[in-house]
Amino acid sequence: MPYYRVVGEVPRKRHVQFKRPDGGLYAEELMGEEGFSSDSSLLYHRYLPTAIIKAETVDPPANASLAPNLPLSPRHFRTQDLTRGGDLVAGRRLLTGNGDVRISYASADTASELYRNSMGDECVYIQAGRARFESTYGAIDVGEGDYVVVPTGTIHRWVPLTETVSALAIEAAGHIRPPKRYLSKYGQFLEHAPYCERDLRAPGGPLIVEGEEVPVLVRTRGGLTRLVYRNHPFDVVGWDGYLYPYAFNIADFEPIVKRTHAPPPVHQTFEGPNFVICSFCPRPLDFHPEAIPIPYNHHNVDSDEFMFYVGGDYTARKGSGIDVGSISLHPAGFTHGPQPGAVEASIEAVRQGHTVTSELAVMIDTFRPLDLGEAALACEDPAYAWTWAR
Ligand SMILES: [Fe+2]
Repeated sequence: MPYYRVVGEVPRKRHVQFKRPDGGLYAEELMGEEGFSSDSSLLYHRYLPTAIIKAETVDPPANASLAPNLPLSPRHFRTQDLTRGGDLVAGRRLLTGNGDVRISYASADTASELYRNSMGDECVYIQAGRARFESTYGAIDVGEGDYVVVPTGTIHRWVPLTETVSALAIEAAGHIRPPKRYLSKYGQFLEHAPYCERDLRAPGGPLIVEGEEVPVLVRTRGGLTRLVYRNHPFDVVGWDGYLYPYAFNIADFEPIVKRTHAPPPVHQTFEGPNFVICSFCPRPLDFHPEAIPIPYNHHNVDSDEFMFYVGGDYTARKGSGIDVGSISLHPAGFTHGPQPGAVEASIEAVRQGHTVTSELAVMIDTFRPLDLGEAALACEDPAYAWTWAR
């Protein structure tokens, strides 16, 4: 995270005695990235964060395997057709992934158990509904359009506040951050960045939950383990630092526009190891008098492009079957672009006074090929690949 926060009570200096009201010491814990060489926070626990009383192996989820995108094809997945239910962790259904990132979809109706992903950061995009994200750092109320960035190793759980909460879960094998080019050398968002510190929502106060013998599901490269903690891990009275979960709403992304068509990097929101996350938001259409206001055909030789259509109207995709809730996957090795007739229709729409696009989409571009998971195959529209040749 790019900037410093302090929540709750912390001692005046780090690594000094910090006494509880009963005279005992709070237990200090450093959560730090890249050894001791990158962002970190110091958390002050009422109980030892090391006190576990049991560990048990948990079977891996069924259907967690991935298959290559063969025969190589553009794909259309309809999340609208996936079954609802479960929670926002165990209920994730795997759409696609590779060694750098796994992307799943969940439509949850129950609270998750306590969870710690020790393999990498997660970015959970809330498509619909509201939830309370609870963690050792405190809670954040989140809703439609929120990206929730969860640092590696954060113990947390998701509690739905509506009947269902639908979300896209992006699990990285590393850290997810704002792009470096948006930041000063000391980490402040620069004036040209499409969002800034004021747009980020973090826990505003400590979250204390009493409890003993509390299970936490831990995910590592080795698999899943359930560790039982002697005391509830939500026992932090204060923390400070640069590392914490936060939410950013896609509606707070301020689009950058050009007279002629701007490429996806202007929509970049986050970067992860070998992938980027971009937000396509409502904005003025390209306004050169002879502009073609939708994308040109393009062949991204180094990336697979995953696009989740979450709202608005997709002029470039008319005739393809793509709708709100759809996902397109355009892999390297395939040239993609607007559907037949869409370019001419977009020019005519501008001529008739149509000057803004209402499209809202979340795009993940990966720099290594994406393989296909069970959920993708379960909701695929098999006719999509041939829609440009109709
Ligand atoms: Fe594209």
